[in-house]
Amino acid sequence: MSEILIKAIDLGFSYKADNGDVEVLKDINLSVSKGSFLSIIGPSGCGKTSLLRLIAGLESPTSGNIEVAAQNSSYVFQQPALFPWATVKSNIAKPLKLTKAKQVEQKVGDVLELVGLSEFADKYPHQLSGGMQQRVSIARALAMEPDLLLMDEPFGALDEQTRENMNLELHSLWKTTGKTVFFCNAFDFGGCVFIDRYFGSFFYARKNN
Ligand SMILES: Nc1ncnc2c1ncn2[C@@H]1O[C@H](COP(=O)(O)OP(=O)(O)OP(=O)(O)O)[C@@H](O)[C@H]1O
Ligand SMILES: [Mg+2]
Repeated sequence: MSEILIKAIDLGFSYKADNGDVEVLKDINLSVSKGSFLSIIGPSGCGKTSLLRLIAGLESPTSGNIEVAAQNSSYVFQQPALFPWATVKSNIAKPLKLTKAKQVEQKVGDVLELVGLSEFADKYPHQLSGGMQQRVSIARALAMEPDLLLMDEPFGALDEQTRENMNLELHSLWKTTGKTVFFCNAFDFGGCVFIDRYFGSFFYARKNN
C-alpha cells in the first residue's frame, strides 16, 4: 500500500473577523499518497490558499485535523514573495544556505536554467516582469528538493507558451523525482486541465456559492 503523505479528517477552518468568523473549509476529508500529483481547482475565494496554508502549517484547523508526513516541503506562494533587496540568485540561495545545503551555486544554476532565467541571475526582482518573478519563486522552491511541493496558482502570471513549458518541466520533474505535488488553480485556467488530464487527479475544494 502506498504511503500517505497528507491526511485531512473532517477538516474545518474559519478566519476570525470582528463581525463574526468566516467559515472557509468544512468537513474536508483527503488522503494524498506519496508521489502523487494532486490538483485542486476551484473558483476564486473557495479556500484553495487556505487549504495550502493548513497543509504548510501556516494556519491551524478550527475543527478536525490534518497530518503531513513530509520531511520537508516548499511552498510557491500565489504572490512571488521575493526579497526585493536581493538578486535573483541570492533569493534562491538564501533558503539553501539557511538549511546548510551543499553545492548551493550548482543548485541555483540548475534551477535558473530550468525556469529559463540564467541570464537574469544578477538582476533584482524589480527588474523582472511579474511572470519572471514567479518563475524565480518556483526555482527557489525547486532548489530545496522538497518531498512535498505546494504550489498556489504558480503559473497564473505566465504567458501561454511559458506556462506550457513550465507545465512540461514540472511534469518531467515529478516523473523523474517522485516528489509529491499539491497544485492549486482557479477554474479558468487551461494549463491545469492539461496537467489533470495527463498526470493528475482531480479534487474540488469547497465551493462557496
Ligand atoms: N485573513 C483573512 N481574514 C478573513 N477572511 C479571509 C482571510 N483570508 C481569506 N479570507 C476569506 O477566505 C475565503 C477563502 O480565501 P482563499 O484565499 O483561501 O481563497 P482562494 O480559493 O485561494 O481564492 P483565489 O483563487 O482568489 O486565490 C475568501 O472568502 C476570503 O475572503
Ligand atoms: Mg488563493
